[in-house]
Amino acid sequence: MSAEKPTYGIIGYPVEHSLSPLMHNTAFEELGVAAIYKLFPLQEDELPQFFIDLRKKDCPVFGLNVTVPYKEKVIGQLDSLTPFALKAMWVNTIVMSGERKMIGHNTDGPGFLAHLAELEFSPGGKRVAILGAGGTTRAIIASLSLIPERPESILLYNRTAGKAEALVRDLGQRMDVSHVHLVPSIDDLNIELADLLINTTSVGLKDPQACLIDEERLHSDMLVYDVVYDPRETKLLRIAQEKGASVANGLGLLFYQGILSFQHWAGGQELDQKIKNKIRKVLETGKSL
Ligand code: ATR
Repeated sequence: MSAEKPTYGIIGYPVEHSLSPLMHNTAFEELGVAAIYKLFPLQEDELPQFFIDLRKKDCPVFGLNVTVPYKEKVIGQLDSLTPFALKAMWVNTIVMSGERKMIGHNTDGPGFLAHLAELEFSPGGKRVAILGAGGTTRAIIASLSLIPERPESILLYNRTAGKAEALVRDLGQRMDVSHVHLVPSIDDLNIELADLLINTTSVGLKDPQACLIDEERLHSDMLVYDVVYDPRETKLLRIAQEKGASVANGLGLLFYQGILSFQHWAGGQELDQKIKNKIRKVLETGKSL
């Protein structure tokens, strides 16, 4: 892997659908940096050798994103974790240091909070309802539980109840989750009283008719946040908007977690606002400008 351009990329399986190359290659282009961001589709049995190669002195890879199904599995391969990644036990970004040491970060949680701030939604004291208990929920609950002004409550429903229980039990070992309550059905999410409803399930992905929420429960005094961004407007967001709710799709989360990853790779240097705007536009359209 020597004598190649400085390389960044995303490991996962599958990764073909990822918009991350578009985002990061736009940033390199705008900055005039001769680096490249690639897809690394890896089967699980290929991970150990991949990490052995990463440690080699002449390896051109200086930073990675990590996606499903490896956000937890990579942890054993890393040298250290940032405090938030350690609490969430979930890594979506790896930074290689000069000595090929690997530091695991999680920018999904901070990215979610950055998007809420952009939407001018302050979660402190609010009633939150979450549908789904995968990795995105893990990052969201961890981030909402570690901020000084936490939500009043987080009600959590998942089709497979045991998965939600295991998630909250695990996070509870490293943070106070006393405000998180598991509910046995969607009807118990108290959506009528919620200030923020978050869908982290894949329901609605590539299916404009799929929606788990009864529109009668939505109301105008809430933010409805769907992590799905394909289509940009899911049925959930459409009916929420019809009810007068504020809405957001997952592109903002994708954007902010990516910007934060990029900045970690750049040693903490912030990207220029003009470049951020360009990346945002490229993501909205799904193709290079
Ligand atoms: P991510 O890491 O992106 O959050 P994930 O770990 O694959 O994604 O989790 C997907 C979530 O969507 C899960 O909460 C899953 O519910 P289960 O744990 O019961 O599988 C949820 N999900 C997917 N399809 C669903 C459906 N048809 N109805 C309800 N929930 C669904």
